[in-house]
Amino acid sequence: MQKTVYLDNAATSFPKPDGVSDRMKEYMDSVGATINRSVYGSAQDAGLVTLLLRERLKRLFSFPEKATHVILTPGATASLNMIIKGALKSGDHCIVGSMEHNAVMRPLLQLENVTFDRIPADREGRLDVSALPGLIRSSTKLVVVGHGSNVSGTVQDAAFIGKVCRDHGIPFALDAAQTAGHYPIDFEALHLSALAAPGHKGLLGPSGIGILLLSDSFAKTLTPVLAGGTGSASDSEYLPDYLPDRFESGTPNMPGIYGLEAAVRFVEETGIDALRAHETALCERFLTGLKEIPGVRLCGTRDLDARVGVISVDFLHQDNAEAAFRLESEFGILTRCGLHCAPSAHKSLDTFPRGTVRFSLGFKNTVEDVDAALTAIRSISEA
Ligand SMILES: Cc1ncc(COP(=O)(O)O)c(C=O)c1O
Repeated sequence: MQKTVYLDNAATSFPKPDGVSDRMKEYMDSVGATINRSVYGSAQDAGLVTLLLRERLKRLFSFPEKATHVILTPGATASLNMIIKGALKSGDHCIVGSMEHNAVMRPLLQLENVTFDRIPADREGRLDVSALPGLIRSSTKLVVVGHGSNVSGTVQDAAFIGKVCRDHGIPFALDAAQTAGHYPIDFEALHLSALAAPGHKGLLGPSGIGILLLSDSFAKTLTPVLAGGTGSASDSEYLPDYLPDRFESGTPNMPGIYGLEAAVRFVEETGIDALRAHETALCERFLTGLKEIPGVRLCGTRDLDARVGVISVDFLHQDNAEAAFRLESEFGILTRCGLHCAPSAHKSLDTFPRGTVRFSLGFKNTVEDVDAALTAIRSISEA
């Protein structure tokens, strides 16, 4: 069988660090209990691992609130729905970036009588953040921006956006789906009110679990979109007003919690700086190699300080879907082609509707993987 090279880490990271699946199996086979309900030994073990996970996430994102404000959700999409639908009501105005994923745009467009504006982006996917103050209205109740683009890899100037939001008293929510685990994020320094991320991408855990970090002041204004049993305050039919219970109704994804705890332990022990240095070195090699190949366009910035290892390529003389098919069938290179659930990003990059072929790097990728991809791109672009 042909060896495959996995370059689809922006969709989901693979492989996972050693120990992640072992912890999930251990939970399934030997623990089995859920949290916040019963008090026997295995339930306490589950509670402890859950708390450890919250504490690790708190450290990873320099999160100044208590671990109670680290909410565990089914994924980034769920976290973003909780932010957008929980914060905005009829008559409100919202500001988003022009590079947003549909996990932001679709919940926003479901809201009736909520208007929004987009911060414009250039052809490399960089938001013109200087336009933000001019978009703010008295009815602006939320700013949501994707930190790193899942199409171009471009990382936005979140610190500037955060400062503008703080000065205007508007909550700022960061979609960190493509930067969590890849790029340093300091919740306080960015003046965030909320951060959403999935467990299965850069945090290197399983799918079906995500995170939502909430500042205390923003949490107080947020209406929970889901209500149900929390195992706490069982004498009342109303949701408790304390966190994390207020935003964690229903039995949680316990195997996911065990897996994510092991994964975030790996991220913490390896260090974001080391993970980023590895990814950036591979990215630089990829971009340098790409420059030498006629017939392809890089859709995104070459500035390594302002990007992650998500590399979109437009084959100028081939159909991109066919190029992606050939990458797999002839070279065993696994990528994703199309519009990547982000039509607005492709409009900014001028690749709508034909889309791009996206190569995305992960911690296990090697120089050999990058070179194999470059050889394949060259061969296909010449054919
Ligand atoms: C920028 C961005 N935001 C949000 C999401 C949604 O993540 P999930 O599908 O894991 O909920 C993704 C997933 O690709 C993404 O790339």
